[in-house]
Amino acid sequence: MNTQSISERLRNYERVMRSNRASTTFTCLSSVRFQHSRQDDADDWNRTENNTDLKGPEKNSAPVLTAKSLQAKKKDSFVQFFREALPYITMHKQSLFVIHIPGNVMYDKNSQVFKSVMQDIIILRELGVKLVLVLGSDSQISKLTKLKGSEPKFATSKFGATRRITDEFGLEAAMEACGRNNIAVQAQLTKGPDVRLTRKHGDHYSDTSGWGNSNGSSRNLPVATSGNYVYAKRRGVVDGVDYGLTGEVVKIDKTSILETLEQGDVVLLSSLGFNAAGEVFNCVSRDIAVAAAIELSADKFIVLPEDGYLPKDKSYFTLPDAKKWMIENFARKDVEYSNLVQNHQAYAWLRNGGGGNATNNSNNSNKNGQQQQKVASTSSSKNNNGSEQQPINNNQKDKVNSWQRAMEMDFEWRVPSCPIEMCAATFACHCGVKRVHMVDPNTSGSLLVELFTSDGEGCMVAGDRYEGTRKATIYDCVGIHDMLQPLADAGIVVYRTEDQLRRDILSQNVSFFVIERDGNIIACASFTGYENGKSCEIGSFAVASEYRNEGRGDALLSYLEEYAAENGCERLFLLTTRTAEWFISRGFIFDGVAEDRSELIPNGKKVVPGRGSLLFSKTL
Ligand SMILES: CC(C)(COP(=O)(O)OP(=O)(O)OC[C@H]1O[C@@H](n2cnc3c(N)ncnc32)[C@H](O)[C@@H]1OP(=O)(O)O)[C@@H](O)C(=O)NCCC(=O)NCCS
Repeated sequence: MNTQSISERLRNYERVMRSNRASTTFTCLSSVRFQHSRQDDADDWNRTENNTDLKGPEKNSAPVLTAKSLQAKKKDSFVQFFREALPYITMHKQSLFVIHIPGNVMYDKNSQVFKSVMQDIIILRELGVKLVLVLGSDSQISKLTKLKGSEPKFATSKFGATRRITDEFGLEAAMEACGRNNIAVQAQLTKGPDVRLTRKHGDHYSDTSGWGNSNGSSRNLPVATSGNYVYAKRRGVVDGVDYGLTGEVVKIDKTSILETLEQGDVVLLSSLGFNAAGEVFNCVSRDIAVAAAIELSADKFIVLPEDGYLPKDKSYFTLPDAKKWMIENFARKDVEYSNLVQNHQAYAWLRNGGGGNATNNSNNSNKNGQQQQKVASTSSSKNNNGSEQQPINNNQKDKVNSWQRAMEMDFEWRVPSCPIEMCAATFACHCGVKRVHMVDPNTSGSLLVELFTSDGEGCMVAGDRYEGTRKATIYDCVGIHDMLQPLADAGIVVYRTEDQLRRDILSQNVSFFVIERDGNIIACASFTGYENGKSCEIGSFAVASEYRNEGRGDALLSYLEEYAAENGCERLFLLTTRTAEWFISRGFIFDGVAEDRSELIPNGKKVVPGRGSLLFSKTL
């Protein structure tokens, strides 16, 4: 089976699953906040099983649940979950994920949160995902620094990044914390399944899983490898603050990490980085995670928000939406917001070798105060200050890898006052990471639900997804047909075969427009010109059911009205049987039953007799 067919199948599958959202959501992997633990669930279950009278107080209102029917329901949910997960399992196999585990999760190796995150990570590894784990240690470093007799100190940069000022006690503490974290993760990865299970399944189990028997013989364990993968430099004195032994990420040893992953090992990164003089620096682990995700072109970068922060009302963003959302919700008047957000674009431009559209940070001076060369834009070559932008020098471009280059150019992934997770997500997507998922680690199983169900659990920013309105081509016929068919069956739109659609799209007078999202047609409309284009009909106007009530109908109609006006159309009309109010509230006038108003129907337009369609029009 080739990759194309898998992704196509996945897309179709996602569409179906979304429409079934209400009935299929997480019935098996019921993710619960930790105040209601899995043990509680098990206890509830046992209580239910042992209860012989399950009818409850309202005997007539609820269906009677017997232990047997509950058991059957549980099995159904289990099977349903696996079937839903299958395309994701196939897709994630051999993918590269970078996961940042923040310091507060790593703080207590016996905590339920840490163990639950590790359980999910082990499942990912067993399903063939290549894993780079970046282990934060902030809380531990502070605690250990205090124990060593020093007070933890921090400073906040103009980009809103709070960094530790690391003294020698702080560095000792960081090394201790990082060592301890590596060991805690290694211990979790070594943990085998219940010995009763391995015995029961005997040799076959040990051969395939690698866990082998209880004393560890014939085990092929997931190996967690840490190393000097991160090159760092002293941060030095910035804005008058001496950061001591705090470091900044210079580059990530991509080749060695990829080789290690190829062997099947899990790569562990910490907050520590090293330089050519053999010095150690304490960096911000999130910087390392962002740099690693970018340098390794991760398929997924997973961020576990430190304080559980997730956008409340959104679970999915395309990259442009995410940036718009950040600006709308977090813009501060006192900072040059758009410039900072544009840093992302500039960086993406650099990474792509200088082609395509990008604008650059207009405050573009490097750390030595020298003016950097501006990044060119093919369409609009003005930067925010309206000055012309120049192409970047090709020699400079090839000398260093992209993270290093960005840092030299003083690019910054943080945007002041914006949630750090969203900044990391948008920046990483701009730089080639396909998808960034923000998942609350405090919810048990959240990683699995996010990665193996169509609805997910957290919030995703997709750098590779696209949604936009465009003119249809004949390649869209199948998508349009599939979308319209159920509406035609219900008598809402007039049925057109794929061939008719193809003919319409190729004809001079008819155009089809579609909203495409991630390769799927999610809305469409036909636009037919009469009377030399003065009078135009909107037809086959529909939004796929799972995407309704989110403004797409409005967006498509506005697009058509603009298109009509630009092309000299003076009157728009349409025939509808069921959607009158929708068009009336968008400025269309009711002209009567179409069959009775032939004087208002342009020559050449045939009204289907007996359908009772209502005629609506709008003067532009
Ligand atoms: C009509 C349709 C295109 C609207 O698309 P949409 O993306 O859901 O629309 P929007 O999100 O822009 O608008 C949603 C609003 O329209 C209302 N609405 C949806 N369908 C409606 C209908 N048939 N009649 C009246 N209002 C309707 C919703 O209740 C919502 O109202 P609210 O904003 O007060 O909550 C979509 O419902 C559809 O495809 N329907 C089936 C096909 C159809 O009827 N096509 C018209 C044939 S000419």
